[in-house]
Amino acid sequence: MSECRICKSSLHKIISFGKMPIANAFLEESQFSSEHFFELACGYCEKCFMFQLIDQPTPEIMFHDEYAFFSQTSKHMCNHFEGVANKLISLTREDPFIVEIGCNDGIMLKHVASKNIRHLGIEPSGNVAKIANSHGVSTVSEFFNSSTADTILSKNGTADIIYSANVMCHIPDIPDLALGVVNLLSDDGRLIFEDPYLGDILEKTSYDQIYDEHVYLFSLHSVSQAFGAVGLELINCEHLDTHGGSMRYTLAKSGVYPVSSNVRQYLDYERRLGVNRIDPYVEFRNNCERSKKALRQLLQQLKENGHKVAGYAATSKSTTILNYCGIDSSLIDYITDTTPIKQGKFSPGMHIPIVPATHFSESPPDYAFLFAWNHLKEIMAKESNFDGNWITHVPEVNIFQGELA
Ligand code: SAH
Ligand code: TMP
Ligand code: ZN
Repeated sequence: MSECRICKSSLHKIISFGKMPIANAFLEESQFSSEHFFELACGYCEKCFMFQLIDQPTPEIMFHDEYAFFSQTSKHMCNHFEGVANKLISLTREDPFIVEIGCNDGIMLKHVASKNIRHLGIEPSGNVAKIANSHGVSTVSEFFNSSTADTILSKNGTADIIYSANVMCHIPDIPDLALGVVNLLSDDGRLIFEDPYLGDILEKTSYDQIYDEHVYLFSLHSVSQAFGAVGLELINCEHLDTHGGSMRYTLAKSGVYPVSSNVRQYLDYERRLGVNRIDPYVEFRNNCERSKKALRQLLQQLKENGHKVAGYAATSKSTTILNYCGIDSSLIDYITDTTPIKQGKFSPGMHIPIVPATHFSESPPDYAFLFAWNHLKEIMAKESNFDGNWITHVPEVNIFQGELA
């Protein structure tokens, strides 16, 4: 039996998605035979409520100089992070020091840097860290952990804010990271992070949020436990519409700030949903299996009827959908994507060709599977000329027309 990564109790294995490649490892034909696979499966800890991956490839296999995810590809996310920068700045006093864990291409910190505010980005993927630097963001290309935190502390002093978005849930050793955070934070400093929210994942059966990088699917229940162990208290939470439903958590040293009423409200919501019991996870497994069956049936039917189906956006999430549901190029002809380093390559595991976004209007399919369902509004506005049908799998497998979105 596997053990919880946080509290070391025994994990209940909930669901296996089977053999899975690295979600962002888009590859060339010559690399097919050496592709890396692992078993993607989730377990639940009854003691600290953490829903987590049982096995995860080592961080160095996922985050490196050819990392394929560039934050600034979405306009909506660019606007979101400009708002975050302004919010963080408004929380601080004179000469603050703002640290971001996993700043990627500098999407958020460039707005802090442009105001000459002391800051530091920690970003292990060298290619995106370089872009951040080119935007004037001070960036070190390293993994954040308790030892990196000590080095930052001795060079820069304490941090007023430690922020991270869609990164905390990637870091396997949370107990060590939490230690680093608590040492680096000033006495009245805040740790603020946002990640896809377990409540949305369970309610929408958005199992595609589960892939190699996302080792944890957080709730208020599990975050309070994991960070409470080092004396950090959850003082606020805000639900966000990003990435199909996220939660922003604010933590501080215990007793420094009052706890907002949002925290109580969301803890109550989670108790109603049952995130502190095993039953909703079992129901989630059944829902995933139902969703897989419905999607396969739909795609097979469309093919049998002679329709052309393409994928829209080669997201990391699409790797889970395609491999779990066994969808290959016999069902989906190609996937369009705006990211240059994905184009001309093949999707991980199922080896569907990735083509430039222009291909979509040049050779439109009858049906387009919206893998980037979290960018629905932005994409529907951009593709208003597409008169085919869209397919989604959240919250149910469904066909819809662009103008109805
Ligand atoms: N914050 C950005 C990027 C999210 S992608 C956004 O929301 O768009 C996840 C990022 O986390 C990647 O750029 C990856 O290189 C980085 N990362 C992974 N492990 C990390 C660690 N231990 N410390 C800092 N960054 C890490
Ligand atoms: P994400 O869902 O993990 O944010 O990944 C977004 C991916 O979708 C990225 O590869 C870029 C791609 N994309 C498009 O191809 N077209 C678009 O309009 C948007 C918003 C994203
Ligand atoms: Zn645990």
